[in-house]
Amino acid sequence: MAEMGEFHGFFAEFYDILHAGLGDIEAYIRYASDAAASSILELGSGTGRILIPLAAAGFNVTGVDKSDDMIARCLEKLDREPPSTREKTRVIKRDVVDLDLGERYDLVIAPCNLLSCLTGRGEALSLLRTARRHLKDGGVFILDCSIPDIRLMVNSHGVTRTFEFAHPVTGTTIIDTFTPHYDFVNQLETDHIVLEERDGDRVLRRAETTDTLAFYFPREVRLMLDTAGLRVFREQGSVIEAVPLDEYAGEMVFFAMKA
Ligand SMILES: C[S@@+](CC[C@H](N)C(=O)[O-])C[C@H]1O[C@@H](n2cnc3c(N)ncnc32)[C@H](O)[C@@H]1O
Repeated sequence: MAEMGEFHGFFAEFYDILHAGLGDIEAYIRYASDAAASSILELGSGTGRILIPLAAAGFNVTGVDKSDDMIARCLEKLDREPPSTREKTRVIKRDVVDLDLGERYDLVIAPCNLLSCLTGRGEALSLLRTARRHLKDGGVFILDCSIPDIRLMVNSHGVTRTFEFAHPVTGTTIIDTFTPHYDFVNQLETDHIVLEERDGDRVLRRAETTDTLAFYFPREVRLMLDTAGLRVFREQGSVIEAVPLDEYAGEMVFFAMKA
């Protein structure tokens, strides 16, 4: 059966367009340089949006992802890279929950809300244990995740919003229609997403999915990191700059080492 969801098919193809210009790629290259990382593990490496620039910057990067379509996009993109970049990458199809590659890295990263993808009981904690298991002594783990904005969530519950933009290569119109619903008791967000590609009035492609994500608050992430045997040595409220993790922060970024 074909894979479903926001990381498959048409959605995987448009992932990079929807996530262009976040500024986190340059930040991860900076963090890898700061950590003098000769080996990096990216958990949930997706289309290689971060993995490929890290390899192009000279770092050896292993990516793990469970989605065939996201990995296919990553491999297609790698094919267009020079051998010097390709030979620095390895992409493995696996679930990050309970993962044990039997290898240790200088830097382990879980960028762009991977934590929220893990909705099953104990899975988020398992991801953090996976990160710890793959760290060398003195190695650094970076976890980056959005902070739930309760006011925005209450106001946008059940409200459909539409975003329209031009495909950067073909110039066709991409229309992203997004309706979130929040379960505030179980900390789950269920998003109904419709993606359409149009040429004028003609619909070229249409894909629809309903996906559930978990949302976490900084206090519980700190507790999970602690429980997983990770000691946080730095926190910030944005992945791209060292702003405080306070009420104005949109993200929570934790830098941790083995406790
Ligand atoms: C939001 S994307 C982030 C991709 C990439 N790190 C980036 O920043 O562009 C999350 C990725 O994690 C993958 N993923 C989600 N749950 C996973 C799991 N349990 N095991 C492995 N990969 C997973 C998805 O397939 C998707 O490619």
